[in-house]
Amino acid sequence: MSKTFGADQGVIVVSNRLPVSLECSGGTCYSSPVSGGLVTALSPVLTVNKGTWIGWSGAPDVEGVDEALRLFSKETGYTLQQVGLTSEQIEKFYFGFTNQIIWPLFHDSQFECNFDPDFWQTYLDVNALFACRTVESGEPDDYVWVHDYHLMHVAKYMREAGDNRRTGFFLHIPFPSADSFRRLPWRSELLHGLLEYDQIGFQTLHDRRNFIQAISVLAPHIKVTGRGQVVTAKVGTRSVKIGAFPISIDYKKFYRIARSAAVRTYAQEVHNAFPHKNIVLGVDRLDYTKGIPQRLQAMHKLLTMYPELQGEISLLQVVVPSRATIPLYAKLKKQIERLVGQINGEFSKPGYVPIHYQYRNLAFDELLAYYRASRIALVTPLRDGMNLVAKEYCAANVERNGTLILSEFAGAAAQLRNGAILVNPFDVEGVAAAIHQAYMMEEGERRRRMDRMRESIRKNDIFKWVDSFFASAFTT
Ligand code: UDP
Ligand code: G6P
Repeated sequence: MSKTFGADQGVIVVSNRLPVSLECSGGTCYSSPVSGGLVTALSPVLTVNKGTWIGWSGAPDVEGVDEALRLFSKETGYTLQQVGLTSEQIEKFYFGFTNQIIWPLFHDSQFECNFDPDFWQTYLDVNALFACRTVESGEPDDYVWVHDYHLMHVAKYMREAGDNRRTGFFLHIPFPSADSFRRLPWRSELLHGLLEYDQIGFQTLHDRRNFIQAISVLAPHIKVTGRGQVVTAKVGTRSVKIGAFPISIDYKKFYRIARSAAVRTYAQEVHNAFPHKNIVLGVDRLDYTKGIPQRLQAMHKLLTMYPELQGEISLLQVVVPSRATIPLYAKLKKQIERLVGQINGEFSKPGYVPIHYQYRNLAFDELLAYYRASRIALVTPLRDGMNLVAKEYCAANVERNGTLILSEFAGAAAQLRNGAILVNPFDVEGVAAAIHQAYMMEEGERRRRMDRMRESIRKNDIFKWVDSFFASAFTT
């Protein structure tokens, strides 16, 4: 595998999440898995390139964290550094500004936003803290690569502290339309904060277009020129590159481990547990952007519209715990549980349960076995930056005969439209019809579609993503 960062370039990756989450008391720390696309995508990159990863460990800043991270660094081969947050910062920055304002606003759920003015100052304070930690780290010619919506102001604070190293930013979630973005009380500050980076990357051309529209509405004096994957904004005397870089997965790793004997055996067991063998799989963090209730309603519709499928097809829905103390998330969990109960109450019979619901983290082999055993993957977010589950399902589909049903509103749709059945996740009947279409699809077509998607993901894997981000960052 080639070294993906520029020649002898060191790199510092900065994100809110580290790849390990710690719970510490009395100097002893216990680690737990971290879920989400950011960690899945960045972990292989750091493993190959041995850089430094600065982030929050999920714990308040207490004794024991540094030692636990040192041990973890030894295992992974790259360095982890923690930014400690107080309980108040966790509340107002993580649960507040980032996940009750930016997350819903950027996912087109603006009416779910809690625009509490108290959150903003803490957002700035925490960004300054991350910048301070970064300024103290690494070598003078390191590239500083900051990730996601939690840290849009880090470059600004680094510059103010006199650190002029090259910086890049990648947004893992969508960027909203200018009309939505304008609702943000701190829209100008945020936009100008982002423009302090030397390069800004988005998941899709659509997100980039939205960002450029926001510039033209809120900062019309800034001119954007160029065409193609990367364009340039002139900000004072500086040039800021703005590009679309669709993120991906370590395809080879998913394919290799999915083919292992352990995963094969596990997948067989999963298959055998469903007498009809027609598993429709959903894997999502607990999040209202993932469209889980709508998906359950589509299953209900399917069993009503096509009664011959009762007893013949089941949804295996895994919900990975996430942000569960935010009221909207807690409410969503209850709503999902109620719907699962209702549908199972209506359609179950001896030997048949239509919805198998699991609320937990899966081990990696288990996840791959689920992917491998499932005839259909139902990936129907209402809005999603990319959605790596869609790509992982294809990479792990060793038999090459599964079908992906994918939301038009996932970033992945731009790349996988050549093989997936695309659906509008709000259209419950349309999703039910798509499940029926996938169920009826003959094997030759399933294989042709799957092969096209697998080839596209294989060619555009996570290492290619890094290469293209850096190729742009280092050309003048
Ligand atoms: N995932 C996980 N734990 C699990 C199940 C899944 O960490 O128990 C991973 C999954 O493999 C994928 C990520 O979580 O890499 C979800 O990424 P995605 O882009 O689909 O959505 P996000 O959670 O980032 O919004
Ligand atoms: C998405 C975000 C990531 C985040 C992940 C998990 O993938 O883009 O930045 O880490 O969700 O969410 P959490 O709040 O647990 O970090």
